[in-house]
Amino acid sequence: MNVLITGGAGYIGSATSYLLIKKKIKSVIIDKLIYKKNNIIPKKSIFFKSNISNTILVKKIIKKYNINSVIHFAAYKDIEESTSKPKKYYKNNYLITKKFIDCCKENGVSNFIFSSTAAVYGNLHKNKKVLENSPLKPISIYGLTKKKIEKYLIRISDKKFKFFSLRYFNVLGADKYLKYGPIESNVNSFSNNLYKSIISKKDFKIFGNNHKTMDGTPVRDFIHVDDLAKIHFETLKYLIKNKKNQICNCGYGKGYSIKQVIETLLKNKDLNFNYSFSKKRPGDISYMVADTKKINKILNWKPRHSDLENMIFSELRWKKKKK
Ligand SMILES: NC(=O)c1ccc[n+]([C@@H]2O[C@H](COP(=O)([O-])OP(=O)(O)OC[C@H]3O[C@@H](n4cnc5c(N)ncnc54)[C@H](O)[C@@H]3O)[C@@H](O)[C@H]2O)c1
Repeated sequence: MNVLITGGAGYIGSATSYLLIKKKIKSVIIDKLIYKKNNIIPKKSIFFKSNISNTILVKKIIKKYNINSVIHFAAYKDIEESTSKPKKYYKNNYLITKKFIDCCKENGVSNFIFSSTAAVYGNLHKNKKVLENSPLKPISIYGLTKKKIEKYLIRISDKKFKFFSLRYFNVLGADKYLKYGPIESNVNSFSNNLYKSIISKKDFKIFGNNHKTMDGTPVRDFIHVDDLAKIHFETLKYLIKNKKNQICNCGYGKGYSIKQVIETLLKNKDLNFNYSFSKKRPGDISYMVADTKKINKILNWKPRHSDLENMIFSELRWKKKKK
């Protein structure tokens, strides 16, 4: 079987491509390589450097490789940047994605797996795990574009075209053999900021100690990229077998406060940095933890890499290697 993977030279797309190749599924990747360096193009994949907006090429690929299933990772993902450059996000993550979905449907693709995000929920102001049917009130353009694509998929899906939307929570970790891991170093993510503090021995800034959480710092649900890759493989099998639309949260259903994570790491003598608090940023989400009953049940999936320290250290090793 051949599967078309958009954004397969990125972090989660490459992890998933490696897994599919291991499972004897051919990965045909289309990616425009937004990062200047460190793109990961899995060996044994078929690679096309292009924007997914090139529907002439997409159509040719679908025909040539007899593509029936697509996993769509390609998008911009920096939530903060989406606020300062809304048009850039609206164009790529909504308009181009919509055009790409139409092209897939028109050319006979039956199964479409979509990378969505916990950012579709927005700030729920409750210390409760979030369910798939919770209200969707994104507070960023990034979250809004993902919500709009989910709505679009619901609208256009039919007997022949089914979708599975996966709402990722905080993705962490890298391959144990360091074949893949997060690429970008400028995105304001938890792990990028942590790495910068470790390298520069400057304080790690926790944004806010007055959130309404157990210790006042934000609470997050982290998921290892290898568990997420496995979810995509199971999702593919599910769609092929059940031909049914689904939307599922992807996390472990366990919340860690940022302070808790940092203090756990600081027990390790090799890490030498401090932390301090800075002001809560407007729109910062206090508590975001997935209710994972649905995905556990539908895919019969269980986490295998949920040890938080391992998750973080695998990523730190990857970042060190890239340096
Ligand atoms: N990393 C996370 O924590 C996280 C969390 C929630 C959701 N997501 C979503 O998961 C998906 C993958 O994220 P990632 O962390 O692997 O991102 P990434 O930035 O590492 O990879 C994305 C890839 O998509 C490509 N791309 C972007 N727009 C394209 C276009 N128009 N045509 C062709 N290629 C294009 C880029 O070149 C890049 O290689 C994204 O849709 C993102 O929104 C990620």
